Amino acid sequence: MSTLTSVISAGFDVEKLREDFPVLKQKVHGMPLVYLDSAATAQKPTVVVDAIRHFHEVDCANIHRGVHELSQRSTASYEETRSKAKKFLNSRTKNELIFVRGTTEGINLVSSAWGRKNVKAGDEIIISAMEHHSNIVPWQMLCEEKEAILRVIPMNDRGELILEEYEKLLNPRTRMVAVAHVSNALGTINPVRQMIEMAHKAGALALIDGAQAAPHMKVDVQALDADFYTLSGHKVFGPTGIGILYGKTKLLNAMPPYQGGGDMIRTVTFEKTTYNDIPYKFEAGTPNIAGGIGLGASLDYMTAIGIDKIAAYEHDLLVYGTEALTQIPGLRLIGTAREKAAVLSFVIEGIHPHDIGTVLDRQGIAVRTGHHCAQPVMDWFHVPATTRASLAFYNTAAEIDALVAGLKKVKEIFS
Ligand code: ALA
Repeated sequence: MSTLTSVISAGFDVEKLREDFPVLKQKVHGMPLVYLDSAATAQKPTVVVDAIRHFHEVDCANIHRGVHELSQRSTASYEETRSKAKKFLNSRTKNELIFVRGTTEGINLVSSAWGRKNVKAGDEIIISAMEHHSNIVPWQMLCEEKEAILRVIPMNDRGELILEEYEKLLNPRTRMVAVAHVSNALGTINPVRQMIEMAHKAGALALIDGAQAAPHMKVDVQALDADFYTLSGHKVFGPTGIGILYGKTKLLNAMPPYQGGGDMIRTVTFEKTTYNDIPYKFEAGTPNIAGGIGLGASLDYMTAIGIDKIAAYEHDLLVYGTEALTQIPGLRLIGTAREKAAVLSFVIEGIHPHDIGTVLDRQGIAVRTGHHCAQPVMDWFHVPATTRASLAFYNTAAEIDALVAGLKKVKEIFS
């Protein structure tokens, strides 16, 4: 059973941390909110909300454009987030970190800017069977444009990638391997360090979709030797509309810009434009300044709690939840990888996930139902949709118990 108490006694006081999230204190349909949808978006601690409010109330000005005091302050706060992200991801320099709207834009930036220059007809891109649509469609679009070939690493019944099959797909025509660090639909933690090494041996680059990993575990882009790594701010308890793309300096310098506009240039004449240095070369237009500042606060917040502590607590919560859900007759977990992050995706025989989600909602329990932007994963498991409870460090064993009680009610109603 759970060892949650030992993690709590090791300094993880979940009840105290919950105080930082006023949103969690509300009632929904007259019941205490049980928020189990953090893989869709995580809740924001007060420090993040305060940082955004402070920017709007005190420092609001455009960045990189003014000598005046407010612009200096907003520029400093925004750029400070890049330094915080450098520590958070352990990149070599902060210039390897590009602010994007989120993971989706990070992947699109690479598939467009790097892909347009480096992929030719007959080249191959490898993705995996468990990718989110945002790590499928941009590569499909590139392959269509360039007449390149998209290959897919299969997975087993647990939802683990089959590395022997991956090995067979790699060949001298492979240009890029793009895989999720953690699957949003299954929770599988992929062995990305090994997969990157295998890609490099074949002469290919590797991009890691870190959207679902960064909220749960320490990410070290240098230790992984990732060529590109991207994440979303709103999944790491920061605001929506901001994310980070890490890329190795050499690769970013060799890539053409993604979008044209202000800030990404050095000089412009009608005859010729020269481009700014990285990261600004990839940051055209006024960015999400408030979002960037809020993201800095969320990275500080996670770091202060301790990412290893978060990972240990969530692991125990996942074990507790897995045991509790598997006691429910007719419930089948979709995604039972041996290495898993805090995602519990499941189906219940004879009951549609949307009905499950609706009945749970009436009890104040928020889960996601549907294909989770991963339709090929649903096809793979021969299910149209799943119900997904996704956890964060502010969830408790009592909330898992509430989910189990809620599911018993669902079964009563539909049996
Ligand atoms: N990618 C997000 C999810 O898994 C939206 O719910």
